[in-house]
Amino acid sequence: MATLTTPKIEARSVSKIYVSARTGDKVEALRGVSFSMKPGEFVSIVGPSGCGKSTLLSLIAGFATPSAGEVLFDGKPIDGPDPARGVMFQDYALFPWRTVRGNVEFGPMARGVDKTRRAAIVARNIEMVGLAGFEDRYPHELSGGMRQRCALARLLANEPDMWLMDEPLAAVDLQTRVILQDELLRLWGDAGDPAQRRAVLFVTHGIDEAVYLSDRVIVLGRRPGQVKEIVDIDLPRPRIGARTAPRAAALIDHIWNLIRAEAAQAIVEEP
Ligand SMILES: Nc1ncnc2c1ncn2[C@@H]1O[C@H](COP(=O)(O)OP(=O)(O)O)[C@@H](O)[C@H]1O
Ligand SMILES: [Mg+2]
Repeated sequence: MATLTTPKIEARSVSKIYVSARTGDKVEALRGVSFSMKPGEFVSIVGPSGCGKSTLLSLIAGFATPSAGEVLFDGKPIDGPDPARGVMFQDYALFPWRTVRGNVEFGPMARGVDKTRRAAIVARNIEMVGLAGFEDRYPHELSGGMRQRCALARLLANEPDMWLMDEPLAAVDLQTRVILQDELLRLWGDAGDPAQRRAVLFVTHGIDEAVYLSDRVIVLGRRPGQVKEIVDIDLPRPRIGARTAPRAAALIDHIWNLIRAEAAQAIVEEP
């Protein structure tokens, strides 16, 4: 039974080893990762390339299972994907043969929501991400930023209890990213009642992005990914409009100092 004190997510000593079906080669992606998330908390995961960030997210999404340890959602072991945990990726992952409306409508349709309610959900979410007027466009007719807005609307249309986001803003240009960071905060409820917020687990390699958005930042070390430190981001909310607080700069420096040497090493070792 989930109670007020039940963590939204609890990862207990999670390890993940990939075994190649062809060669039997093993890659240890994660080792002994433990953390928990409160309902409504915005948590980011940062760490050098290849340290297991996407792996950790896919375990929580239910796309993969840990090799050891366990992950609990509302106190129950995760045993597969669940629309309650909405996922958004870096590379748009929109259906190219569906319009904006068709993409956003997909989740509610798959869940069997009737046509009238579906139309209302779709209209509300398209409006919310600022894509009203673009309902009939196909993904290739949209800019990168608009595609990510569409992906966000698609996620929201499922009314998930938690948002899992894997570098959702990595593929857009810097100015678009800054705007979408603020949109994301607004949709999450940066300025609103904390009790109305969804839990967000947000993978990024942007350290300033992680600090700007998050309540806490989980810093992973290089492969096999292990938790180096979990940094409390004690910046006041609302954050929109306050990107350059001196305290934010100090937190960014602190996180950089944790991963600088390892990030440099990861560049040398990446295939
Ligand atoms: N399906 C897979 N099979 C084998 N190895 C994988 C698989 N997915 C990821 N890996 C390996 O696991 C490690 C962690 O990958 P990933 O979680 O994608 O890291 P990150 O997202 O931090 O860049 C990398 O060495 C990667 O090559
Ligand atoms: Mg990744």
